[in-house]
Amino acid sequence: MERDIQFVLNGLSRTLRVKPSDKLIDVLRDKLAVNSVKYGCGKGECGACTIILNGKTVRSCIMYAVEADGCEIETLEGFQRLGKTAIQEIFARHNSFQCGYCAPGFILSTEELLRNNPDPTEEDIKKALAGNLCRCTGYKNILEALREMVELSKAGNIL
Ligand code: FES
Ligand code: FES
Repeated sequence: MERDIQFVLNGLSRTLRVKPSDKLIDVLRDKLAVNSVKYGCGKGECGACTIILNGKTVRSCIMYAVEADGCEIETLEGFQRLGKTAIQEIFARHNSFQCGYCAPGFILSTEELLRNNPDPTEEDIKKALAGNLCRCTGYKNILEALREMVELSKAGNIL
């Protein structure tokens, strides 16, 4: 049976009617035009559909929309609206991505990492990004960008 759910999406309250079987990714993309959230594997394995939910990255393809009731969701659209584009710009400067399909997921995982740990080790970085797959690059430029971000983050100059 359909029911109304409410969540805060990028700072704005949203109420919408969903079915119990609706996946969160489909509701975000199809009902709310949140197109930065990408559909990849659909099994929680590639990270293309990453969002930040109540401060933690989650895979929206393996969540039901009803599970987001009462939650706070952040996506790349929110960062862009607020002008929080430093992470994106550094990835771009390092030519970290080719097709860019995986990029929103990497950006959100990086945001989560640096919010919680402004001075991560190489191990911390690899662990934080382990759930994000990129089919185009060899990760080298992604990691180079991360190293620059960590230097800025230590000085409090990125988020
Ligand atoms: S599409 Fe969700 S993890 Fe791959
Ligand atoms: S740049 Fe194409 S999947 Fe990562």
